[in-house]
Amino acid sequence: MSNTLLELKDLHAGVEGKEILKGISLSVGRGEVHVILGPNGSGKSTLMNVIMGHPKYTVTAGTIRFEGEDIAKAKTFERARRGLFLSFQTPEEIPGITVENMLRTAKQAVTGERVKILPFRKQLRAMMEELRIKPEYAERYMNVGFSGGEKKRNEILQLLMLDPKLALLDETDSGLDVDAVQIVSEGVAKYHHAGNACLIITHNTRILEKLTVDRVHVLISGRIVEEGGAELVADINANGYTHIAGAQAGE
Ligand SMILES: Nc1ncnc2c1ncn2[C@@H]1O[C@H](COP(=O)(O)OP(=O)(O)OP(=O)(O)O)[C@@H](O)[C@H]1O
Ligand SMILES: [Mg+2]
Repeated sequence: MSNTLLELKDLHAGVEGKEILKGISLSVGRGEVHVILGPNGSGKSTLMNVIMGHPKYTVTAGTIRFEGEDIAKAKTFERARRGLFLSFQTPEEIPGITVENMLRTAKQAVTGERVKILPFRKQLRAMMEELRIKPEYAERYMNVGFSGGEKKRNEILQLLMLDPKLALLDETDSGLDVDAVQIVSEGVAKYHHAGNACLIITHNTRILEKLTVDRVHVLISGRIVEEGGAELVADINANGYTHIAGAQAGE
């Protein structure tokens, strides 16, 4: 079995006729943690949405392979079934469906198996306790009226309950207080093992403290302009993006 989970080759994609991703190539192996850094508006969320198959975006060239298979034309739910998961930068509010029902329905949809209510509830409650989410939140409508930080914690709850092969985390740590960053970072570390992988977008490095970062990709104006190991995170924290080779390559 190949160790590669996700492989992008010369991926070009855009929205409403505007090209945003201008030739992205990267490969994420099982057991790895990759980080995408880049200034606001560089295309990071677009990349995550394109990998997940958001219908708003059009792939105009290049390939997206997951476990060796071309998924560029697969619908979002098919990608979820294959083991992809996206934690949104701005999680949606879904009135009318409780957190527990939403997660159980999602679990059934991705596994294709019936998920029994009582064992699921027990597992959910245990996970909520670890993430310090009060039990009554299971009965609230998905994200409705949740604070920004509560929504992000709820994303990690979904990650842990759905247990995907590849977690795409889009600024799951933004807007969190110091304790919540710690909880979210512990949650990601708890999820991660040698058989799965994480692709993490962050502007804050505290979420990475509990993880071993294998590879860092710097995205500027829709292109990866620099790649390296974990040391690149510290370098960018200290010096910003302007000194990065190719940072001016832009448009
Ligand atoms: N529907 C759209 N129409 C036109 N431009 C769009 C559309 N959606 C996104 N863009 C543009 O694409 C670019 C990349 O946006 P994206 O959200 O991927 O950036 P980002 O790197 O995630 O930024 P941030 O760090 O602020 O989250 C931005 O310039 C954005 O304005
Ligand atoms: Mg973004």
